[in-house]
Amino acid sequence: MGFHGTGKIWMNGTLVEWKDATIHIASHVIHYGSGVFEGARCYATPKGSACFRLDAHMRRLQLSGKIYRMAYPLDLAGWQNAVLDTIRANGMKSCYIRPILYRGYESLGVNPFTCPVDAAIMLWDWGAYLGKEALEQGCDVKVASWSRMAPNTLPAMAKSTANYANSALIKMEAISDGYSEGIALDVSGNVSEGSGQNLFIVRDGTIHTPPLGSSILGGITRDSIVTLARDLGHTVAETIIPREALYTADEVFFVGTAAEVTPVRSIDKIQVGAGHRGPVTAALQQAFFDVINGEVPDTHGWLSYVYDEEAQLRAQRGAARRGRRAAEDQRQVPMFGE
Ligand SMILES: Cc1ncc(COP(=O)(O)O)c(C=O)c1O
Repeated sequence: MGFHGTGKIWMNGTLVEWKDATIHIASHVIHYGSGVFEGARCYATPKGSACFRLDAHMRRLQLSGKIYRMAYPLDLAGWQNAVLDTIRANGMKSCYIRPILYRGYESLGVNPFTCPVDAAIMLWDWGAYLGKEALEQGCDVKVASWSRMAPNTLPAMAKSTANYANSALIKMEAISDGYSEGIALDVSGNVSEGSGQNLFIVRDGTIHTPPLGSSILGGITRDSIVTLARDLGHTVAETIIPREALYTADEVFFVGTAAEVTPVRSIDKIQVGAGHRGPVTAALQQAFFDVINGEVPDTHGWLSYVYDEEAQLRAQRGAARRGRRAAEDQRQVPMFGE
């Protein structure tokens, strides 16, 4: 996927032309991986363009920044408005959204405190990450020889640029070996996640996904799929998954902003279930696409409309409802899984 090289990019509050959105080679982030970022999507729905769970994405950006001691003078509403303004300025109907917070140009050395915290928001067209065919037929993947970061090394819960050095090793190995994606284990040898997506398995009617303690990024799609699965009456367990459970699962699927919901049809050349998209994956994929495409009522308040102010108000009311529901859920559900 190449860039068109046109459009406007938000940099520290100013919209600049794509070709002018540059930073100095001596910026700290280039040398020391001192950046945190987000990946969200805006979809064209019958009621207009809508960002999916923009609040959750921008909240995660703030929390990633908090872990790395990067303060930026925008609150949650400010971040969301900056994204919406950038989409409007570019007149885009649908797009992938990439906000990034990074240590910029001042001096070089491991200590990032001397460098400013800068921010940018860029947008581009990004189709099906693992290919359109994979959404229906499933993809062929391998278990990576690289593990995910050990606990207390690089924080997996922060979506930091540094973590993607590990992701890139997993992805390059998979592609070089003829697979489309890799599944990484954690340092205990249990299933963690894909290079850029979370993973679910289905076994005997129960849906399982690794907990945050298995070195995963707390995915927003993962959270949405857990919610949708429970809405559909499924039991979902956040639980440690041994490697061999991948080979004995009835269904396996990836979820993520880029990958959306993509079935896995083989792992290490061992067929998963019937070797094609299974019924639970298909139902969840349908439920997910119905929400993001605005085909069903947005009962969880997940959509932020970009252009229509009335719809935005409805979405904000939905988000408030969702916040209240999340607060209630938090009283019932242990926050870091079981
Ligand atoms: C390593 C990793 N895990 C999981 C995910 C899925 O997260 P989300 O659903 O919030 O996009 C991503 C994508 O951002 C990722 O890069």
